[in-house]
Amino acid sequence: MDPNISTLRQKLADASQSHLLQFYSQLNPEEQAELIDDLERMDFQEINGFFKNAMEASNNSKQGKLDNRMEPVPREVLGSVTRDGDCVKDWEMTGLRCISQNKVAVLLLAGGQGTRLGVSYPKGMYDVRLPSHKTLFQIQAERISKLQQLAEQKHKTKCCIPWYIMTSGRTMESTKDFFSKHNFFGLDKNNTIFFQQGMLPAMDYSGKIILESKGRLSMAPDGNGGLYRALGNEGILDDMERRGIESIHVYCVDNILVKVADPAFVGFCVQKGADCGAKVVEKTNPTEAVGVVCKVDGRYQVVEYSEITMETAQKRSSDGRLMFNAGNVANHFFSFSFLRDIVKKYEPQLQHHVAQKKIQYVDAQGQLIKPEKPNGIKMEKFVFDIFQFAKTFVVYEVLREDEFSPLKNADTQDGKDTPTTARHALMSLHHRWVLNAGGHFIDENGRRVPAIPSLKDGTDLPIKCEISPLVSYGGEGLEELVKDREFQPTLMIDEHGVHQLVKNGV
Ligand code: UD1
Repeated sequence: MDPNISTLRQKLADASQSHLLQFYSQLNPEEQAELIDDLERMDFQEINGFFKNAMEASNNSKQGKLDNRMEPVPREVLGSVTRDGDCVKDWEMTGLRCISQNKVAVLLLAGGQGTRLGVSYPKGMYDVRLPSHKTLFQIQAERISKLQQLAEQKHKTKCCIPWYIMTSGRTMESTKDFFSKHNFFGLDKNNTIFFQQGMLPAMDYSGKIILESKGRLSMAPDGNGGLYRALGNEGILDDMERRGIESIHVYCVDNILVKVADPAFVGFCVQKGADCGAKVVEKTNPTEAVGVVCKVDGRYQVVEYSEITMETAQKRSSDGRLMFNAGNVANHFFSFSFLRDIVKKYEPQLQHHVAQKKIQYVDAQGQLIKPEKPNGIKMEKFVFDIFQFAKTFVVYEVLREDEFSPLKNADTQDGKDTPTTARHALMSLHHRWVLNAGGHFIDENGRRVPAIPSLKDGTDLPIKCEISPLVSYGGEGLEELVKDREFQPTLMIDEHGVHQLVKNGV
């Protein structure tokens, strides 16, 4: 026998994972080599340890222990764009100054598989059928460009916001190709940095790694909290240090309204001396699929929608609002020094969460089985699990209609968080920007359309209006284009001017 194989067999036996080679003799030489290569790169003792700890933690939380330990976010760490409206301009100025000094970076979490949306390509490449047909990646890239320009104009100095993009084994190649094909959407390629998170095997409930075919393990990305390992392993932390980055805005790919590197959020966190911050919207429906920012045993944490009980999710305060209403919109602020401590010191302490899944597998006879109910688990770390290590933690509350409309699911009638709801949310925001800048909409008979569009044919369709991020980042700078002018939808404003599409694009 090949000596490498016998060492590997021993390693597998020691970790009770010998079944992974059960079909080895039936594979062709190429498949054999691939399997050996995959297995040799894995640390089975570590994986078994992850499994044991994750299952223990999951069993503890199932016993309702978590609920009794949860407390809402205290008022003193909360900043709000509505309640503290007077301060927002000042926070924004601070954020813009930091950007102009090249101290701010953005980091996009884009390693997910988009399973719920049902596409085989990265979610950022999705076109929600805006009039412009821009993808999520393009919208985000253009917001970065515009913000750089705003900071440059304000401070009369050239600056850049590096964009770190975390992908996974599943999304790396297609993401990079997409950016190259689109010429990095006008951004400098040297400031758009891709890196890859790790993968972990799926396991059955007894801790055996699942084979998805005779020669292949079932592997999945290790959750968006895989970020911290990847930051160290992939040299990203060093890159940030070299560039003198002090503040990092981390966000998820799927929110069409995301204010990338939001200067007000960054400025708020910087002014408060925070090492860690979370942006939230008010959660108003107990069953909404958002995590809630709260304290557990006195330390900040997000309790995920999959981990909270209905009883706790429904609890209300004396003012009638949900007690746990700080809905996590997956926009986080980290100081560089905090991130460095996490990567160097705390990362190994983070526990994996358990997601029960239906995982395709081959049985002992080599038959491929597609189970109808969950038969195993995937293990994931979550990006917000590091909140517990923060010394100064702050929460920044924004308006849902201005900043949060995630794309999670495929379109269905009355579906939630779909391409249609994302498209409508963006157009509705841009409609309001035009009205706020003194513009008006008229219908085909020349009559002014009321500010709040009426129900038409039983459907609540927003005015079709899209403003390129290259023209306006957050509604600014539109007066000279729209004030006292009347428009017929579809209105599009981009770097080439103001256009009213004659034919409806949507
Ligand atoms: C996430 C938040 C949830 C929040 C909601 C708001 C986490 C763990 N949960 O939930 O608290 O209320 O967004 O929309 O953040 N990703 C990776 N690697 C992975 C898995 C995911 O990079 O291994 C990325 C995805 O590409 C995506 C983001 O993380 O950009 C969020 O992943 P998703 O699975 O969609 O999270 P949700 O369950 O929707």
